[in-house]
Amino acid sequence: MGRYVMLGMPGAGKGTQSRKLSQEMEIPHISTGDMFREAVKSGSPLGIRAREIMTAGELVPDEIVLEIVKERLSRPDVSRGYILDGFPRTVSQARELDSFQAPDAVIYLALSQEEAARRLEGRRSCGKCGAQLNIYLQESAEDSCPKCGGELVRREDDTPETVRVRIETYIRQTKPLTEYYREKGLLREIDGARGIGSVFENIIRSVKK
Ligand code: AP5
Ligand code: MG
Repeated sequence: MGRYVMLGMPGAGKGTQSRKLSQEMEIPHISTGDMFREAVKSGSPLGIRAREIMTAGELVPDEIVLEIVKERLSRPDVSRGYILDGFPRTVSQARELDSFQAPDAVIYLALSQEEAARRLEGRRSCGKCGAQLNIYLQESAEDSCPKCGGELVRREDDTPETVRVRIETYIRQTKPLTEYYREKGLLREIDGARGIGSVFENIIRSVKK
């Protein structure tokens, strides 16, 4: 049970930790980035617009994001809580969230820009089984998926130029949320540079406090 926001720069480990926390707590993992990537795949008008914005490293306009998040948070499985990954991303999105389903805690994964860029450079996912990998963690993931042998793909926005813009966008528009939530006493700062298991243990410890 609980309503959690996962905050951190691109590559900080939001998706990785959200998936673990979602399993542990049995509450839905809601990633706005994943929702937009699904829309891109479907080729819908929203997908066509989102793709352009995402590959430029910029943010989808607040009105569009809010519409899909409000719809998602109105579904019955959210009654036990949620893990929001990649939302809110602007102070105005955070204010909106407060007005309908305010979070209980905000998990902030702190990481340097250099390490974040390195992780994104090494990120791969399996086109067949969907496994999320990193060539710096699983060396065998250079060629094919170590789990099923499927072909590995890179995210379209993980090019060096787009990563640079995404990090800048984060610093300008999303980082101010750390102060927003600190002032409310909700921020739980976690050292995101540790190993995946150790980061997760620290998250569990901080939310149980
Ligand atoms: P989104 O999908 O949210 O991307 P992001 O914020 O840039 O973050 P990433 O998904 O790249 O990183 P992550 O923190 O999830 O790290 P991960 O766990 O994968 O958003 C994409 C785009 O959609 C945005 O740019 C924007 O255009 C749009 N958008 C989305 N939400 C929006 C919103 N609310 N408003 C407006 N626009 C929105 O880990 C990265 C890699 O590192 C992986 O390979 C992983 O295996 C590895 N790794 C993870 N943890 C560790 C560790 N502890 N040690 C070593 N390696 C690790
Ligand atoms: Mg992610």
